[in-house]
Amino acid sequence: MINFKLELAEMLAGSDLGMDLDEILSLIEIPPDRDMGDFAFPCFKLAKAFRKAPPIIAQELSEKLALPPSIDRAQPLGPYLNFFVSRGVLAREVITEVLTRGEGYGSSDIGKGKRAVVEFSSTNIAKPFHIGHIRSTVIGNALNHIYRFCGYDTTSVNYLGDFGTQFGMMIAAYKLWGDRDRIHQDPIRELLKLYVDYNQLALEDPEKMDEARRWFNELENKNPEAVELWTWFKEISLGEFNRVYKMLGIEFDSYNGESYSSQFIEGVIEELNEKKLLVESDGAMIIDLEDVDLPNMIVIKRDGSSTYITRDIATAQYRKREYDFDKNIYVVGSEQILHFNQLKACLSKMGYAWSKDCVHVPFGMISLKDVTLSTRKGQVVFLEDVLNLAIEKTRDIIDARNPDLENKEEVSKQVGIGAVMFQELFNGRIKDYVFDWDSALNFEGETGPYVQYTQARAGSILAKAGTTVDPDFDSSAITMDTEAQLIMEIYDFPRRVVEAMEKYEPSYVTRQLIEISKCFNKFYNNCPILSADEKTKRARLALVAATQQVIQNGLALLGIQSPEKM
Ligand code: ARG
Repeated sequence: MINFKLELAEMLAGSDLGMDLDEILSLIEIPPDRDMGDFAFPCFKLAKAFRKAPPIIAQELSEKLALPPSIDRAQPLGPYLNFFVSRGVLAREVITEVLTRGEGYGSSDIGKGKRAVVEFSSTNIAKPFHIGHIRSTVIGNALNHIYRFCGYDTTSVNYLGDFGTQFGMMIAAYKLWGDRDRIHQDPIRELLKLYVDYNQLALEDPEKMDEARRWFNELENKNPEAVELWTWFKEISLGEFNRVYKMLGIEFDSYNGESYSSQFIEGVIEELNEKKLLVESDGAMIIDLEDVDLPNMIVIKRDGSSTYITRDIATAQYRKREYDFDKNIYVVGSEQILHFNQLKACLSKMGYAWSKDCVHVPFGMISLKDVTLSTRKGQVVFLEDVLNLAIEKTRDIIDARNPDLENKEEVSKQVGIGAVMFQELFNGRIKDYVFDWDSALNFEGETGPYVQYTQARAGSILAKAGTTVDPDFDSSAITMDTEAQLIMEIYDFPRRVVEAMEKYEPSYVTRQLIEISKCFNKFYNNCPILSADEKTKRARLALVAATQQVIQNGLALLGIQSPEKM
């Protein structure tokens, strides 16, 4: 496809401005308002060499530049020279590209030959899959898709929290109060209750905490009773979690979590010893990170057990061996920024140049009005309940809007779950946010349902037209502002995907889908399609098909379905 910006820059570079191509490329902007033009070249930097004020330079350039065929006109506006892309060329190039590439429109081979491990969700065994996990789960899933779309060979990993002292606590609690039948009936709630009650007990009686530590030690040493209970907790928890992953349409290539790494711990300790990185402190073994301004990290506790970060060191090494990654991405909340800084510092001290390829992608907290999300106190909002409620609420909305819709149940799922996911991905990930039903499920706002609906509307126009889309449409029929603006947003989609990949920020894709949808709805309101003359109708139908395709591609990247009818 034509790179309009590059064509423009090449033309300017050949116009004796005393600037090279790269400099010009870095200066060209997109105007804040598309009515001003599609691209803008600021003339400030030329003022010195030309000994003229920027607005005068912009004026003079507009008169003398020899524009390439892809650019229609140049218009000075203050110190900027604004350019308008030729509508016919734009329509021809972009629509044809979308229609020929189909599901591949927006993909690239930037990451070709490279591997990315994308770790996300990383739920904890014997604990609820609660609303707080939705962020890592949905953002990580989107990043995994985006990296693959950009050509990376990706591996999605659910780094299960299935090891550590809390499992000693679970076993001790089970030995005290456990009831197999009750647990089978409502696994997570019962296990959570054991955990919460034992925590309470340990607060009153510190000896109980030692008891839990002993059991974790037994687990690390493969005591059969401990292993049996732990395996069972893990099975029933995964059974519960997989229901939620299925609802979200998420799959993992690997579930190797904390326990998996425990087999490598001894090797890690040996290596750290050899590299003289371990220091004794108060009975524990630590790594001193003072020289890099980070708190020391405990590798082996006083009781001889490994820690969370030790397991992460082992895991990073294992991933490098197993996948030879170019990027090892951790989608984990911002409360663990320090943890990942320590991890990277440690890997770098161990001499691994690839420590720089380990990337922590943090995100802010989600909260619901009036509900705390702390597991320790036992007050939890289960993600499954939130998703089911979203489906229910959507069913009510559909009953009111379109009671005769076929497939109502299926569509309610696609839209309800899509709404929750979309809201999750709409804001920059680092911001904290309050989950809000009304805004998530609004069909008119900047929401998932709005985008899904736009795509379904495009589909119904195409169905009504009853003809196949003509890829040889006459692009000279595309003359309206609303058409050109819509095409420009579709043209921007691939660039947004790359930005999302580079910045680990799916919201670039989400927001672009909103822009495309808004432009489509404006176009739809301003330009008759089926009642237009034959030539115009063909061109507009091609544009409708391209819009539907690009929205579907974007939603798929976000992990959201595109219902045919809503
Ligand atoms: N299971 C952990 C938690 O829920 C997150 C794991 C993060 N990943 C890692 N490699 N440490 O807090």
